Amino acid sequence: MERNEQTADDCLPPQIKLNSEVLEYLKTESLNFPKSIESDRDRCEKEICRILSLLPIPPLFTVVRVNTLQQDPESLLALLKEQLIDNHRKRAVQLAEPFFHPLMPDVVIIPNAGPVQSIERREDQIVVDHMCGMSVLRGSEVFVQGIIGAPLDMTRGDIVSLYVDMEGSCLRGQTQPLKGEKIFLGNGVALVSRNQIFRDSSPDHVLSGVGVSVTNALYSAPRLDNLTSDLIFAQNLPSAVCSYVLNPQPNDTVLDMCAAPGGKTTHIATLMRNKGRLVAIDRTKLKVERLTSLVSCWGLTCVEVYTFDSTKSLQDSAEATKGPPYPPGTFDRILLDAPCSALGQRPSCCNKMGLSWLKSFPMYQRKLLRQAVGLLKVGGTLVYSTCTITLAENEEQVAWVLATFPQLVLTAQEPHIGDTGLVGSSLSPEHLKLVHRFKPDVSGDSKDAFNRDTIGFFIAKFIKVENVK
Ligand SMILES: C[S@@+](CC[C@H](N)C(=O)[O-])C[C@H]1O[C@@H](n2cnc3c(N)ncnc32)[C@H](O)[C@@H]1O
Repeated sequence: MERNEQTADDCLPPQIKLNSEVLEYLKTESLNFPKSIESDRDRCEKEICRILSLLPIPPLFTVVRVNTLQQDPESLLALLKEQLIDNHRKRAVQLAEPFFHPLMPDVVIIPNAGPVQSIERREDQIVVDHMCGMSVLRGSEVFVQGIIGAPLDMTRGDIVSLYVDMEGSCLRGQTQPLKGEKIFLGNGVALVSRNQIFRDSSPDHVLSGVGVSVTNALYSAPRLDNLTSDLIFAQNLPSAVCSYVLNPQPNDTVLDMCAAPGGKTTHIATLMRNKGRLVAIDRTKLKVERLTSLVSCWGLTCVEVYTFDSTKSLQDSAEATKGPPYPPGTFDRILLDAPCSALGQRPSCCNKMGLSWLKSFPMYQRKLLRQAVGLLKVGGTLVYSTCTITLAENEEQVAWVLATFPQLVLTAQEPHIGDTGLVGSSLSPEHLKLVHRFKPDVSGDSKDAFNRDTIGFFIAKFIKVENVK
């Protein structure tokens, strides 16, 4: 089989590919906020461009949370190590030892590896969609559903090179190597033939499972898909921080307003030691079904799950109710992990979102925030979070909350292991220090590089000091 040299044009792109209007908007976003000053606007543009350039690179750490209600953390770490050794032996990959996060006793950090510079390109190419490609960069196998192109004569056992289609130009079932822009992911062994993937398309023969086993990856990360799912949950580091910042206590009454798929719900319930009441709401029925299974799989009996629109979760009357909507002042703590433009996700090589969709998020988040403020008890805690990088959904949203609800006070967070807020919005320098931004940084060999080499994420914490007038 012919072997090709590595070419520069199939490497990870120098920054995420965005709609041109969105890119321009992100770079100049602080011009929208009259209180921002010129030097801050320059700093903001530079910082946004820096972050955009890191989005295609996968974080060099995988993070999992362990179910400390079922077993003690040390024996869970031992179990995790055993499962990882087994996984790695099958792939001949050597990764460094997992270890506990120094400040979060149920969070395990597993170092990844890469990029490997010298992988030979094979003539036989498999083309996968963006979602599948980004999962492979984070250690996943190639599942059949993600494959869109394969050589005509591909049979089980063939060694193939794996590519992501960057332009969406590959037709399903395409046989020829991709002409348009593509990204090389590594090599693997086909576990199915081309015919099995594309010919047998009758509804009673939908092929699923692993289509290509990745043997030589550009980035190596632990394969988590076959780990014990009632004991271990893969999560981005800032998401785990979010639940610690909320600081739920046993016997609290807590609301998780946008809860699916349930990473933070399971964490909050675990931190409550499964005692008290945690109401988990999501608008989408299918997601709620999966969330219900996850909650039951983790043995969490303190969680009530509802399919409901949280923009309507506050009722006028004080009459107590079992399910949503709820009377004012029902909850001790509320997490609003808001639906957002998700531009902090890593790795991400392209995003086709249009400008009007991007601009629709802040108003929607404000509807949810209004409900949250009403539902919170005096003395209660509200945590607002997003996995995006825009000012409008993060710092500017906090400025709006403080101007609109004088009964809320912005509060320091524990732990605060990420960065402070991004300049360029209407938020004051004092308040910028209180909010928590994870601004991806891949430069570090330092001991705590795992705290910075993360997705882009934002957390703000408020305390309600008096009732809404
Ligand atoms: C960022 S995700 C939440 C992730 C979740 N907190 C976790 O940690 O696994 C946002 C969620 O908000 C839900 N959502 C969007 N609008 C909603 C609404 N009006 N009411 C309830 N849920 C909503 C979406 O279905 C989505 O699952």
